[in-house]
Order: sequence, then structure tokens, then C-alpha cells
Amino acid sequence: MIETMEELKKTCKECKKCRLCETRTNVVFGTGNENAEVLFIGEGPGENEDLQGEPFVGRGGKLLDKMLNAVDLDRKKNIYIANMVKCRPPKNRDPLPDEQEACIGYLRNQVKIIKPKIIVCLGRVSAIRIIKKDMKITKEHGIFFERNGVIMMATLHPAALLRDPRKKPEAFEDFQKLRDKIKEICTSTY
Ligand code: URA
Ligand code: SF4
Repeated sequence: MIETMEELKKTCKECKKCRLCETRTNVVFGTGNENAEVLFIGEGPGENEDLQGEPFVGRGGKLLDKMLNAVDLDRKKNIYIANMVKCRPPKNRDPLPDEQEACIGYLRNQVKIIKPKIIVCLGRVSAIRIIKKDMKITKEHGIFFERNGVIMMATLHPAALLRDPRKKPEAFEDFQKLRDKIKEICTSTY
């Protein structure tokens, strides 16, 4: 375990533990408030994220910011956003099991530093890895689970909402449930 976020970031930026290091432009470590009570976990960087070194900065990121802001969350203030793998998989394919295995330690270390009360998985891939392996995102998004004292929920991935905008109201409902849960168990987010 690395004790500080700064040190962990430095290690991660130099990482060559899996093949994704060969094709990346930037390592996308994560962003936000390292004392946040709420942590969002995406799948892995896409093209824009790889180019800018920041998570969720493309069209999906804009939509995510909109949904966050609708419930008074702000990536610069009261949440942290990270991905399961820190380097972009070529052509935005799903990260392979061995790549996830190589990278997940960094996320676990981030979780140990942040100590979030609530984790929100963005999309199926992170929900399966983090909440439960048979997670059915279409049926089980917006439901709260508990793992080692941490409350977890999955919501639909912003990219999925861009592909099928009819699902947006369901995602907004998840964010409303999240706001209620934050009000119930968090003390410094709002
Ligand atoms: N999709 C993700 O899962 N993460 C990002 O950072 C961008 C797009
Ligand atoms: Fe290292 Fe993770 Fe990047 Fe693979 S994806 S090179 S494990 S930081």
C-alpha cells in the first residue's frame, strides 16, 4: 500500500505492468477530492481521456457532469472519479481479464486512501468486477449493495446513454437515489 495519492499517482504514471502501456498516450489516474465520501468508478479511458490524461472528458463525460450537477455533485469539489484500468484499451475494447488484474491494485490503493462511504460503478464492466460477478446492470442499476461496510451501486454508463437516450430518465433516477443515500449516510458531501 502506498500512503499518499501523490506518490501513488507517480508510480502509476510510470507503470508498465500490462500491455496497455505500449499504446497509451497518458495514464489516466483519476481526479477529484481525495477526501470524498463518494467514489465513481468507470471502466477505462477512451480516446479523449487518453489524449488529455483525465477521466470522462469526452461527450460521455459532459453527460456525466450534467447528471452529477443535477444532484449537486462536482468532480472538482465533493467526489472522486477513477477507472478500473488506467490506460486506454486499443479501439476502446473492454479491458482483458489480465489487464484488469494487473491494474486493479492501483484502484484498491486509491480506495484505501479515499475511504469512500459510497462507491458508484459506471457501467457493467466495473459493476461486475466491483459489486458482483453476475451483476445484471439493466435490472440491478440503482440498487444499493453493501461490501465490507461500503455502500455500492451501479448506474448505466454515460456512453450507453448516448447510444440510447431513452435510458436517460432511468439514470437520472439512480442519481436521485444516490442523493438520498448521501443525505442519509454522508456528513461532508453536501
Ligand atoms: N469511459 C470510462 O469508463 N471511463 C472514462 O474515463 C471515459 C469513458
Ligand atoms: Fe499499468 Fe494499469 Fe496501465 Fe496496465 S493499465 S500499464 S497495469 S497503469
